[in-house]
Amino acid sequence: MTLAPLSTSVAPGPRPSASLSTTIAFQRDPLGYLSKALERYGNVVRVPVLGMPMVVINHPDDVKKVLQDNHVDFDKDAKIFELVSPLLGDGLISVVGGASWMSRRRLLQPAFHRRRIEDMMRVMSAHTEDMLQRWSGFASGGTDIDVGREMSNLTLRIVARTLFAIDIGADGQTHPYAQALDVFMKELSAYLKFPVIPLRVPTPSHRRFWRNLRIMDGFVYDMISRYRAGTAEDQGDLLYMLINAQDADTGEKMDDRQLRDEISSFLFAGHETSANALTWTIQTLTEHPDVESRLRAEIDSVLGDREPTMADLPKLTYLAAVINENLRINPPIWQIMRNARVDNELGGYRVPAGSNVFWSPYLVHRNPDFWPEPEKFDPDRFAPEIARSIHKGAFIPFSAGPRICIGNTFALAEIQLILTRILQRFHFESRTELPLRKVPEATVRPNKPIRIALQPR
Ligand code: HEM
Repeated sequence: MTLAPLSTSVAPGPRPSASLSTTIAFQRDPLGYLSKALERYGNVVRVPVLGMPMVVINHPDDVKKVLQDNHVDFDKDAKIFELVSPLLGDGLISVVGGASWMSRRRLLQPAFHRRRIEDMMRVMSAHTEDMLQRWSGFASGGTDIDVGREMSNLTLRIVARTLFAIDIGADGQTHPYAQALDVFMKELSAYLKFPVIPLRVPTPSHRRFWRNLRIMDGFVYDMISRYRAGTAEDQGDLLYMLINAQDADTGEKMDDRQLRDEISSFLFAGHETSANALTWTIQTLTEHPDVESRLRAEIDSVLGDREPTMADLPKLTYLAAVINENLRINPPIWQIMRNARVDNELGGYRVPAGSNVFWSPYLVHRNPDFWPEPEKFDPDRFAPEIARSIHKGAFIPFSAGPRICIGNTFALAEIQLILTRILQRFHFESRTELPLRKVPEATVRPNKPIRIALQPR
């Protein structure tokens, strides 16, 4: 069989000599800049960002090709992962090389088995209950709440407990781990916005970055040594499971550094993402009272006042549709990148080996050829009979293909459970002045706190 020759034309885009102005425009408003570039040049654009030139794709066929059909040709040794390497190290998110990734994923996959998630739902539920108790106090005192902060505290408490058995407490702000993470994430966001001065240069901001990362690592290493010394008991957490896990082929166990890299990666991937999805969903419900009442009606009829179990979740189809439609409009992870390992072709253009191939779920989810009226919030797009025919590369909040988010079932169970419990207990009303601007940082955040007032049901 003769293979068709690869296209010789490279994708259109701004001239490489415009890389300084492109970089400034991209740093200022990445989503606005990219959306205009895609409108102007089409679904594949070459964007000459300084130090990180990118081929940006926006057609679901190309996304599917990179993530699934030709995934071996595209790996994670792309620039963006280098930037977050102090945090992620060689953990599952950033590990490069099909074989290394595969053996690690095999080792970790059992942690996300349905039965384990069912157990973890008990932790999610207990911590949600604590939060709702506090909310009752706010409701009777007439105090508004900052939804983003509340969701972030709750999801951090859940992952810290389920990943490495520390309890950061109900308010989520006074524990030294939570305080260090808060400062660290601020410094990381600042660095990612303008990653020009290397982190090893000891600016005051970089010093804060390293100091707080060391504090966070200290907690993980302390737990590792307590487990190894047998002075702490198995608490059903991921760390305990990993300490004892053995590679199926080599029989090897993970060393302390590998354990730390995995725990940090999971914490980074599994905390702000879920909090962000919950925050935007709550805000969106306040703007769509019709959707909110349909959702409450479903929860009342399936569950009444009782807590949802894993077995209940498939029955809550409208809840799943609301969550998915929010993940389409507000995907927490807005940028993904791969390195093209060999010469390739995307959208009919040549993509040379070594290119940073970039796409934004935020923009792919707004491709009007696949999502008519993309800005309209319409959960019925995800009604079960319609959802089956959605293109595999058109809805990618958790990515797709072999490197799809390992925590997606955990995250969906967590989001469903938390939203259900909130809706069972409270009515809420927005206290946020609209419009909100979306600010792409590690996740896409609102430009001001989302505040709601609560009334008990
Ligand atoms: C709404 C919540 C979440 C969203 C939107 C999300 C999104 C994603 C996306 C887009 C990727 C692919 C990144 C890439 O290819 O570069 C990913 C990978 C990953 N996520 Fe999630 N995630 C969520 C929650 C979680 C949770 C709760 C955990 C763990 C507790 C987690 C752990 C991971 C890990 C370890 C990977 C790397 C998987 C691999 O490469 O094999 N995520 N996630």
